[in-house]
Amino acid sequence: MTRLGIVLSGRGSNFEAIAEQIGQGSLSAEIAVVVANRADAPGLEAARRRGLQAVALPSRGVERPEYDRSLIEVLRAHDVEWVVLAGYMRILTAEFIRAFPKRILNIHPSLLPAFPGLDAQHQAFAYGVKVTGCTVHFVDEHLDHGPIVMQATVAVEEGDTVETVSARILSEEHRLYSEALRLLLAGAWAIEGRKVIRLERMTAGG
Ligand code: GRF
Repeated sequence: MTRLGIVLSGRGSNFEAIAEQIGQGSLSAEIAVVVANRADAPGLEAARRRGLQAVALPSRGVERPEYDRSLIEVLRAHDVEWVVLAGYMRILTAEFIRAFPKRILNIHPSLLPAFPGLDAQHQAFAYGVKVTGCTVHFVDEHLDHGPIVMQATVAVEEGDTVETVSARILSEEHRLYSEALRLLLAGAWAIEGRKVIRLERMTAGG
């Protein structure tokens, strides 16, 4: 069973959605550890309630290279194969990226490359877009930037508020992250340049 390491900073609803899918048997993986860079992250408490390994690794006041090295150690100590960022509010160092090549994922609440960074839902809503959504992507050294695995769209309707749109994006996130993991853990994919290619499709299409 593929061992996932979840890394988060806050609420942890994406982590919980993944844990649910695993629990229901619709995602074949196990959560080896949940790590948070804030001891008070609700996601950490949620992990403990589920009986999972939960590690608080506070980042406040720790230099990024040193912090990322400790994070690598924790993940390796739990034999993590895939790193799943789920609301982790820090950029990773090149050293961290190199420690888990092509094995770090993130979810972002916009249709990248539009609206990277903080408060993507607000950014998109304030810009007046008619369609927004969420993106699961591989992580590289740049913010919200690596190759895209999957995206889901959410239409912005008359009368929507940033809250109603954000809620619909979040429920798509909860569905999409596990769907992307199912695809990737099945193994029939490759990265070509910026593109994540499904190998079955290439074969089927000749
Ligand atoms: C999500 O909107 C995710 O896209 C972004 O951070 C938020 C985390 O939410 N990266 P949660 O902690 O998973 O509830």
